[in-house]
Amino acid sequence: MNGLYRAVIRGVGSYLPETRLTNVEIEQMVETSDEWIRTRTGIAERRIAGPDEATSDFAYFAAKAALDDAGLSPEDVDLIIVATETPDYLLPPVACQVQARLGCRNIGAFDLHATCAGFLSALQVAEQFVKSGVHEHVLIVGADTLSRFTDYTDRGTCILFADGAGAFVVSRGEEQSGEGVIATTIHADGTYFHNLYIPGGGSRTPYGEGAKAKIVMDGRKIFKLAVNVMASTVEELLEKTGRKKDEIDWLIPHQANQRIIDAVAESLDFPPEKVVSTIQNIGNNSSATIPIAVDTAIRDGRIRRGDLLMLVAFGGGLVWGGAMVAY
Ligand code: COA
Repeated sequence: MNGLYRAVIRGVGSYLPETRLTNVEIEQMVETSDEWIRTRTGIAERRIAGPDEATSDFAYFAAKAALDDAGLSPEDVDLIIVATETPDYLLPPVACQVQARLGCRNIGAFDLHATCAGFLSALQVAEQFVKSGVHEHVLIVGADTLSRFTDYTDRGTCILFADGAGAFVVSRGEEQSGEGVIATTIHADGTYFHNLYIPGGGSRTPYGEGAKAKIVMDGRKIFKLAVNVMASTVEELLEKTGRKKDEIDWLIPHQANQRIIDAVAESLDFPPEKVVSTIQNIGNNSSATIPIAVDTAIRDGRIRRGDLLMLVAFGGGLVWGGAMVAY
């Protein structure tokens, strides 16, 4: 559906905590090896929060970087959406902490919880507000601190998860310009919820009442689902827009496992040199992976203005989605 305006990506920023957790350190925690982790996941080390850091800290720094990149000040922002599954507190929203810390006006600020597809869900929401003319500048942030919900005695999960944040400033552009968000899509299938979830700490089993507040995952099952839904999302967006696969300059998938990224590219017959991967030294920081990957590839000169990006993600829920964007 065409709106009055186009939603363009005016600024991009990201932030990673300084603390590194290497495979060699994980070898001291569980029965595993650096070699196994590298070959089965592509990860060598992950960035994780220091003792005094939490999601709103990462979100704030990424948001600030995106605003600087956009050449905008906090007063210009009309709405803040933070995609996260690991807020500092169950109440209030991280977005309110970001609003206060940036010094924005008393604009709307809310969190959106759609696990690792949260950032692309936020992008779709921002797109609607901007296209319809309701808002001029929407700040969207993907920020997570999975290390606090990771069981470091479980070798099937502790090898993957990490922390960090990334952000976009989604701004009003002209419909005829051809820039910006071309199409978005999001999906869910809640029947798979128990394949990736945190049993404790919510309203069903509050923290301290038995169920652990750590991630539980059926890795093999999630792996197969991830490859299928991310590949089908790319096909869906190509069909929806009438664009061809070879028009895509960069495929930027959720950074969950290098083997998942490779399998998606392979099943789409997509050239690996046009796939952005940042997982090796960052790990999987959930809703932050896509904006961090985009920011990384902009800063190292791979992504240039005008490039056609295909962003695609999946996560616990099951949720999945994608966006085609002319940067
Ligand atoms: N070190 C050494 N061995 C390990 C291990 C580890 N860290 N983790 C699992 N293994 C073992 C298993 O116990 C199993 O042993 P067995 O054959 O004797 O039973 C063997 O390795 C294979 O296990 P499997 O689970 O099939 O491994 P895998 O190749 O699927 O890799 C994951 C495991 C978790 C890395 C992989 O399934 C994965 O990445 N899944 C997707 C998870 C994901 O994306 N989650 C985030 C969603 S946002």
